[in-house]
Amino acid sequence: MKKQHYPFELQKLPYSYDALIPFLNEETLYIHHNKHQRNYVDQLNKALKDYPEYHQLSLEEMLIQPAVIQEPIRETVIVNAGGVYNHQLYFKSMQPHGFCLPTGALFDAINQSFGDYYKFQKAVLDTSMSLIGSGYLNLVKTEKREVKLILSKNQETPLSEHLLPLITLDLWEHAYYLQYQNRKNDYVQNWIRYINWKEAELRFGK
Ligand SMILES: [Fe+2]
Repeated sequence: MKKQHYPFELQKLPYSYDALIPFLNEETLYIHHNKHQRNYVDQLNKALKDYPEYHQLSLEEMLIQPAVIQEPIRETVIVNAGGVYNHQLYFKSMQPHGFCLPTGALFDAINQSFGDYYKFQKAVLDTSMSLIGSGYLNLVKTEKREVKLILSKNQETPLSEHLLPLITLDLWEHAYYLQYQNRKNDYVQNWIRYINWKEAELRFGK
């Protein structure tokens, strides 16, 4: 991810709002990106506006070491920086070109950790369904270059645990409710077919 700093901008989607149909309809994607993600960008800029000492910090720098932000604004900044980071990665974690599989070193790491791709898919579904409340499912790379699935609550990120997320799945109701209502199970299963493994492989190689 390219280094960004204040003032943060709403990144364009890497595809059009109707590109993920039938998995996600246009209204769901538009509101999620143009309303929800935009709000995190705006709130982050608002919180940082009067603190020029933080204007060169990237999202990653703030999220890896929240203590660099002083107390009165720390929580607001970290929640909104997490909201921007998580949404940027979520939208990059999907691609409109249909089902694809991971390849190379990442494919090997997935097989090593989960057994095979079928078991990986089952773990994605089971772990996602185990989240109570709002958050994200992340496939992360560990320091040993292994992969594992972890949940992040609300707008927390794996960066605070010094883990690099390769892909992330937004499990907040706003991500799917307009189209799927209470069928979170279907949303998660359909997401697996739209994973952007090329993005995940790039990040795994870092
Ligand atoms: Fe979201």
